[in-house]
Amino acid sequence: MSSRTFDLFADHEPEQQPRAEQIGEQSWVLRGFALPVVDHLLPALDAILVAAPLRHMVTPGGFSMSVGTSSCGAWGWITDRSGYRYSPVDPLSGLPWPPMPKSFAMLAHSAAERGGFSDFNADSCLINRYIPGAKMSLHQDKDEKDYAAPIVSLSLGLPAMFLFGGFSRSDKTQRIPLLHGDMVVWGGVDRLRYHGVLPIRHGQHPRLGEQRINLTFRVAR
Ligand code: SIN
Ligand code: FE2
Repeated sequence: MSSRTFDLFADHEPEQQPRAEQIGEQSWVLRGFALPVVDHLLPALDAILVAAPLRHMVTPGGFSMSVGTSSCGAWGWITDRSGYRYSPVDPLSGLPWPPMPKSFAMLAHSAAERGGFSDFNADSCLINRYIPGAKMSLHQDKDEKDYAAPIVSLSLGLPAMFLFGGFSRSDKTQRIPLLHGDMVVWGGVDRLRYHGVLPIRHGQHPRLGEQRINLTFRVAR
């Protein structure tokens, strides 16, 4: 990483690096990993959400998702009555999604590396906004073209209880609290694990107020 911002990490001795908790053979929670750079990311995120506003997408089954969703990068994940897929354009505007900020791509790259996945170059960043009560049911991320690359997630704002399961929906799940600045990386043999988020509880985050925003970085194509 050449950016000065990310030299913050490069200068750290291993024991000073953010704490990594292993949650699967190739899955890690990186506590506070994004904290040194998070203030640089938020204005870029605000600009993305002006260009491509959050919206409640509808599942193929006809349910409106409780999270508000948008994307940046070459590909954005969408759902509507005809299915789940990646689209190069935002269906709201008919325009390409806002480009992925360099700072996002670099953070995702360095988190992936910390989780044991080198050369992670995300072409998609899904943005999900949870207000209190919003949740994400257990699902697998499987709309990507291949599963060689991990999924890299960044949590911002209010805490969440992340559920990390197995390879079938009914498998037992680990409950993992995720706080502002935490990142999760899962890939390799764990790439298709079921995961979800319990309903967000009421609260006020000093920087983001009454919401949680999760970014997931993917290689879609
Ligand atoms: C997702 O699975 O896309 C979101 C996970 C999260 O909000 O932590
Ligand atoms: Fe997911």
